[in-house]
Amino acid sequence: MVRDILTYPHPLLRTPTKKVQVIDREIEELVRDMFETMYQADGVGLAANQIGVSLSVMVMDTTPKKEAPPVKLVLINPEVVSQEGSISYKEGCLSFPGLTVEVERFNKLQVRALNLRGEEVHYTLEGFPAVVFQHEMDHLMGITFVDRVKGLKRRMALERYSKLQKQRV
Ligand code: NI
Repeated sequence: MVRDILTYPHPLLRTPTKKVQVIDREIEELVRDMFETMYQADGVGLAANQIGVSLSVMVMDTTPKKEAPPVKLVLINPEVVSQEGSISYKEGCLSFPGLTVEVERFNKLQVRALNLRGEEVHYTLEGFPAVVFQHEMDHLMGITFVDRVKGLKRRMALERYSKLQKQRV
């Protein structure tokens, strides 16, 4: 089921999510809905709190368009194990429709998480997938991409966003 995506400044986007304690049918359903919602919105990553569920769950699919098969990642209670290098990327966010912000992040990460079977999984992410992971990891901690830029850049991004919102009404 496609669910509504919360947009900034919804308070859940500023609230750190809780760890998942039991991976049950409810979590399976959540993950299924997250993929449906993400694909419908043409996104490459989604955090559970973006659809109103304050749990540490993210999904990603950064497969380049039309390349099969898609690589669907489910990350429950994800953690960064190590990080290195830097990359600057113009990011978008489904919770900030229309806004892009250039953010600097680590270029390479080792991460671990649980999958839907409750097994510990490890991934090495580099470049764009690493950017997407860090963006979604931030969501799970109640941080949005505008929090990752400071001063004038941040103020200008928020101004652009408020103009976009007015156009939307
Ligand atoms: Ni986002």
